[in-house]
Amino acid sequence: MREKIIAGNWKMNLSLKEGEKLVEEIKPLDGSKTYIFPPALYLSKLNDKLKGKNVSVGCQNAHFESQGAFTGEISMEQLKSANIDTVLIGHSERRNIFNETDEMLKKKVDAALKNDLEIFFCCGEPLDIRESREHLDYIKNQLEVALKDVTESDFDKIVIAYEPVWAIGTGKTASPEQAEEVHAFIRAFVTDKWSKETAENLSILYGGSCKPSNAKGLFTKPNIDGGLIGGASLNSADFNAIIEAI
Ligand code: PGA
Repeated sequence: MREKIIAGNWKMNLSLKEGEKLVEEIKPLDGSKTYIFPPALYLSKLNDKLKGKNVSVGCQNAHFESQGAFTGEISMEQLKSANIDTVLIGHSERRNIFNETDEMLKKKVDAALKNDLEIFFCCGEPLDIRESREHLDYIKNQLEVALKDVTESDFDKIVIAYEPVWAIGTGKTASPEQAEEVHAFIRAFVTDKWSKETAENLSILYGGSCKPSNAKGLFTKPNIDGGLIGGASLNSADFNAIIEAI
């Protein structure tokens, strides 16, 4: 179902104590959904702490294999067994720093769906691709490969986040018009490949230097259903202000 969503991606930030304090201060808003993606080590503790509060907890990454000799990794099965129901797949830092390819991300999408996990799937172009005006084709290819075997009903479990790489952590936000162009393109792509109903029910989030000062301008665009927030999700004043802007 298409919903208004604000999600905080903490990346490798905050101590456990700082994270516990932050979740106490988050004020979810009726009529929208709030998520946090803390470091994996804190998932269970924060999930327990948030019981009864309208904030969902997801993992920033997981492996596609279900078990075995993969030192340092966590499987989708293990997340599910620990009552974590949501996973972020394809963040540009995973793609660029940890060399995750579209083909690997496809395996992760399939493994997550097999385990009935909700997926926040990230896509987005680097600066040179935007400057050469090939961003729409680039994003289409990212989605085509990773979502190749996804069915219409699987979309109940999928949220897409458009995160232009040049806007992540740089302070440089996509303008509402630039973001809207891509969001509308993604929705049209889903219409073509699956169905209009699937596309209309899909939540598409914007991510990349989203902050209280620019959130409202982005969220008023018709195809922008919320935000995936990095830096500004690390303090409750900014994160709550963004939640309020939805
Ligand atoms: P940022 O990160 O808000 O710090 O730019 C967004 C993200 O990487 O999800």
